[in-house]
Formats: sequence, C-alpha cells, structure tokens
Amino acid sequence: MSADFKLDLTHRPRRLRRTGALRSLVEETILTPADFIAPLFVVEGDGAPEPIPSMPGVSRLSIADLVAECRTLSGLGVPAVALFPKLADSLKDERGTRALDTTGLIIRAVHAVKAAVPQISVMTDIALDPYTTHGHDGLLLPDGETVANDETVGVLTRMAVLHAQAGVDFVAPSDMMDGRVGAIRRAMDAAGCTHTAIMAYSAKFASAYYGPFRDAVGSAKAAGTHSLDKRGYQVSPANRREALIEAALDEAEGADVLMVKPAGPYLDIIREIRNATQRPVAAYQVSGEYAQLKAAAERGWLDLARTRRESLLAIKRAGADMILTYFAKEMATELAL
Ligand code: PBG
Repeated sequence: MSADFKLDLTHRPRRLRRTGALRSLVEETILTPADFIAPLFVVEGDGAPEPIPSMPGVSRLSIADLVAECRTLSGLGVPAVALFPKLADSLKDERGTRALDTTGLIIRAVHAVKAAVPQISVMTDIALDPYTTHGHDGLLLPDGETVANDETVGVLTRMAVLHAQAGVDFVAPSDMMDGRVGAIRRAMDAAGCTHTAIMAYSAKFASAYYGPFRDAVGSAKAAGTHSLDKRGYQVSPANRREALIEAALDEAEGADVLMVKPAGPYLDIIREIRNATQRPVAAYQVSGEYAQLKAAAERGWLDLARTRRESLLAIKRAGADMILTYFAKEMATELAL
C-alpha cells in the first residue's frame, strides 16, 4: 500500500485509543478489590497450610490461618469470603450427618472469622458434598445414584439455619435441588434470621471445571472418582433457557443474589440473567478456570497477570456485580499497586 493512500473516513474509533490517557477515559469496565469474594478452604487442627496440587497457590487452612487470611483480604479491600470445609474421610458418611454438627468445623470457622474480622462478609455453601462418602450434594435414594430432592431440602434447611445462627451474612445453596431457596428462606425467617441473605447458585452447570475443587474438599477421593456425575441435578452445559428458568425460580423464591457458575465459559448466561433481573448477579470463576491459567503460566505459555485480569474483566463486563475467584488476593494486591 502506498504512503499517499487516504481514506475519507468520518469515524475513526482509533482516535480514542491513541494514548493511555484517552484509553482510560473511555474504559467501560473497571475491576476493584470490592468486586471479589475469596473462596477459602478450612481444615481441622493447627497444622501448616496444605497445598492443593491442582490449584497452585491455594491451600487448605487451619482456623487460625484462615482468620489471618481474612484479615489480609479485608486489608486489601476484599469485602467477602466463601468458606468450604475439608473433613477427614472418617467423618463422612452416606447421609452427610456432620453437616448438622452444631460444633462442626465450618461453624467454628465462622465464629472465629466473625469474632476477629467482623467487617468481612462471610458466606458458606449449603450442600452435603463435603460431608458425604459418595460426594453428592444430597441424600441418595436406595438406587444409590439419584439424589432425593425433598428429603435433601429438609436437611439443607436445617443446615442453613445452623449457619445463619452462627453468623454468616449469606448462605449459598449450591445443591440445585428444586424449591430449596424458598424452603431455606422460610426456615431462616422462622428461626429469626430474617437478616441472613441467600446467594443462590442459580445457574450451576454440570461442569468438568470443578475437578480441582473436588480435590480440595476431598469429594472426588471420597467418591473414588474424579468424574462425579451430578447431571441429575446440575444444569446441562447445553442449556441456556433452563438456566434462565432456574434463576427466575430462585428470584421468585426469595434469593437476594443470583449466581452463575462456572463464569468464563458461561458469559452468555451471566449477560442474560443480568438483563432478566434487577437483583445483583454473582459469577463463580471456578477451580478449573483458575487451574488452567496457572498451569499455562507455569509452562510459560500465558502471561498470568494479564490473563488473570482479562478473565475477570470479561466476567464483570458480561454483567457480574461480584465475582467469586481464587485470584481474589492476587488481583486485589495487584490493584493496590
Ligand atoms: C459443591 C460445590 C462445588 C463447587 C462449589 N460448591 C463442586 C461440585 O458441585 O461438585 C465448585 C467450586 C469450584 O470448582 O471452584 N456443592
């Protein structure tokens, strides 16, 4: 092309990309530490942090280390944490009995965090998978594979009340049983916990990206399989309309925040739910999304800082008001620089 070639253009979008100052003026989406919720794993005892091999940089923490981590996160401006317990296999059973233990690990962890770092919001998962030998989120029918809906909801309502009474700001039902949000709302209200909010895992897909998380809480090991099949209750990755139905039902049943999970591969769902509701929308950048960036970066194939930021920016741009991400601390640290 010759140097004297000239286009007669009215619109030249590159005008606004010419300098850093111009680019910053037209930035439509900006990440802040206040966008993030840090998922944290807690384990019994006062041992050293236990690294999770499939999640480089993430460890299971003793309650004391968990409290310290919450203090650090709060100092970085991260407003919330999501706590997940890892129980010893000897404490798991078919029915997940320990989920209702009033002095169990998660209850003690909530008390400790709330006492030491009262300003941080705490949410807990409402599902039976850390407590069952089979690793499913609920109680199984005699066929050994179908999760019983209503009976499971009965247990989850009691679990939610227990967590609410321990002082969580949000309970987060992640089980995908029908009717659980309404039942949990009624049970918490009846128990006087009207102020405890519900962050519903509304559009939770039957995803292969949960693998590393199952290592972290030991649900895959307990079940003896990595490919724990939850397709009987989680939404098919093929289904968009079904995800919207789930979100609408959770909203009608009283969910305060609607969540989409995983996040990155489901940006279309985040956007659709954002457009369909006035409620806040959360997205969970799950363990597998984290692991793939970490692994590629370890091999020198991707730039971690830039892909991390881009992945989170995309989730926020799609419409998420808040993002659960294992990058919360790294990202908040980077944003503080
Ligand atoms: C289970 C639960 C899962 C995650 C959060 N809660 C896994 C599953 O459904 O098997 C996954 C989170 C992640 O992969 O980071 N109730």
